[in-house]
Amino acid sequence: MTGTRRRAAGAARADLVIVANRLPVDRVVQPDGSVTWRRSPGGLVSALAPVMAKQPGAWIGWPGDVVEDVKPFEHEGMALIPVTISATEYEEYYEGFSNATLWPLYHDVVAKPEFHREWWDSYVEVNRRFAEAAAEAAAEGAMVWVQDYQLQLVPALLRELREDLRIGFFLHIPFPPAELFSQLPWRRQILEGLLGADIVGFQLSGAAQNFIRLVRQRVGHKTHRDSVYLPDGRMVTAKAYPISIDTAAFEALAASPEVQERAARIRSDLGNPRKLFLGIDRLDYTKGIYARLRAFSELIHDGHFTVEDATFVQVASPSRERVDQYRILRDDIDRLVGHINGDLGRIGRPAISYLNASFPQSEMAALYVAADIMVVTPFRDGMNLVSKEYVASRIEGDGALVLSEFAGAAEELRQAYLVNPYDINGMKAQMLEAYLADDKEQRRRMKAMRKTVAENDVATWASSFFEDLALVRQGHDKQVKPARRS
Ligand code: F6P
Repeated sequence: MTGTRRRAAGAARADLVIVANRLPVDRVVQPDGSVTWRRSPGGLVSALAPVMAKQPGAWIGWPGDVVEDVKPFEHEGMALIPVTISATEYEEYYEGFSNATLWPLYHDVVAKPEFHREWWDSYVEVNRRFAEAAAEAAAEGAMVWVQDYQLQLVPALLRELREDLRIGFFLHIPFPPAELFSQLPWRRQILEGLLGADIVGFQLSGAAQNFIRLVRQRVGHKTHRDSVYLPDGRMVTAKAYPISIDTAAFEALAASPEVQERAARIRSDLGNPRKLFLGIDRLDYTKGIYARLRAFSELIHDGHFTVEDATFVQVASPSRERVDQYRILRDDIDRLVGHINGDLGRIGRPAISYLNASFPQSEMAALYVAADIMVVTPFRDGMNLVSKEYVASRIEGDGALVLSEFAGAAEELRQAYLVNPYDINGMKAQMLEAYLADDKEQRRRMKAMRKTVAENDVATWASSFFEDLALVRQGHDKQVKPARRS
């Protein structure tokens, strides 16, 4: 059906369409059978939700539950268009190819990626469904912005259906070097899928360079700097758009009396330790939770401080719970926390307060306000918005951030206590330095980081992408080159 347009009866078409694996809200069935909608997990939704709240558009995504049919509906001024997947597709497309093949492969093979042909078939099938839904929802000449690794084939499939659209793609996670990506049996198809977009956006320029190099090597297209020249005359741009947060909204939330009170309460419930360490992550093996908790416990064990001096609150929100690697991780962390608290804790004073749960944004903000030292130690992370949220929440200008060099955010937050999460002793040294730092030193570092997140917020991220996409000429014979950004 090349070049044809399809449209759901009666549905208005949108000039801006977001296509993401998940809708911004997940469908939850309550014990009494009623259906409610809850904010979806992860950084993608926290970044895009405020962007979309400020402009009309449609969001196409999976409702987060295996159901046969969910009708389109309105949510906070957005048209939400659900794409359903079957129980088998949930296993093969979502848990399988997206999260047991691509996720570990794109994160430095921290876990071993699995390659299964039936998972790939399901990935193709579901990507086709998303592309068809986007083709139906988009108005003539609309901008369609496809998100993340679950939907890398959508740009090319959508272009086959709708040549009139401007298509953007943004990868929220890292894009690996050729040496790792080349393991993928379907490497060429993925690259060709992405090349259906006019602009392929990445978190870091190194990722964009990896992509350009792979396109040259594996697809054979001509490239120059950030541009790929296709044989049909079309040009594709690959460049970095580092994602951020709604900084002003986070500051306002942190300043609210409710959050301030809750933060004080958290500290008193913990026995008013001199220093409160905090980790907030999805329970994912890329996040380095195990290594950081070990490092913290060794600092107590080595006598640098006691459980009266310092405590660690670790929030780990449940994620992808049926995937083997995630199950193993959950057991490992449960055991480690048990050991540490058994060895080092005292009555009413555990070394680690571990919460395997998800919390609303206001509770996260209260934790950020309460914490003296935020510890973010992924082995590899596309950006890591938690680190930026912490900085935005430090409205008093104090607090310390311990941050992995391997998080995308480390390219911007240079004044953090940077660590290599594979080096436990190095991590201990930096955590201790953050613990011992005087107020002046903390404020010096925090001031610089707060300036960075104030200047580069999520609105800047989205508008720089939209501005570049708007420059793509309709018809796609040739693309006007987007302006360079410093
Ligand atoms: O940012 C990475 C990401 O995989 C997003 O695409 C996703 O929305 C989020 O993390 C949460 O993951 P999941 O949708 O698998 O729960």
